[in-house]
Amino acid sequence: MIARSITWAALTALSLTPALAQDVEQGAALFQDNCATCHGVQARGDGPMAEVLTLPVPDLTGLTERYGGRFPMLEVINIIDGRALLRGHGGPMPVFGLVLGGDSVAMDGPEGTVTESATEIVALARWLETIQR
Ligand code: HEC
Repeated sequence: MIARSITWAALTALSLTPALAQDVEQGAALFQDNCATCHGVQARGDGPMAEVLTLPVPDLTGLTERYGGRFPMLEVINIIDGRALLRGHGGPMPVFGLVLGGDSVAMDGPEGTVTESATEIVALARWLETIQR
């Protein structure tokens, strides 16, 4: 019982670190500026540009669900960045890696690797993580 409440307190403290809250706020603003035209203000895939695109614009609140219950942080960062060209088919998404900036941050990559991304891209991904249904 005591152990559980300590863990809970630790988790709460972790999720309220100022840096993270600031990231999320910045991500929300960046999303409205760069992504809402296609993905919609609520990221539901219903922005005004969606109608004129030939491909359907995905609902970004369903990422965790589509990836089997885990928010795909690195995949999302790579998709937004666009420069990693992880997708074989290319797509209509603009390459934001060249537009969005900020300092680069190191993130834990798969199997102990470290991946670097611009802070703005990480902020966007963190905001998307908070809006998963
Ligand atoms: C010009 C319209 C357009 C803009 C602007 C745009 N997107 Fe997209 N996005 C798409 C389309 C269309 C797809 C689906 C096709 C594809 O994957 O290329 C997509 C796919 C995605 C995916 C993958 C979703 C999945 O289910 O795999 C993510 C994540 C994403 N966009 C995030 C963003 C973010 C964040 C921004 C802003 C920095 C953004 N997009 C700006 C059109 C756009």
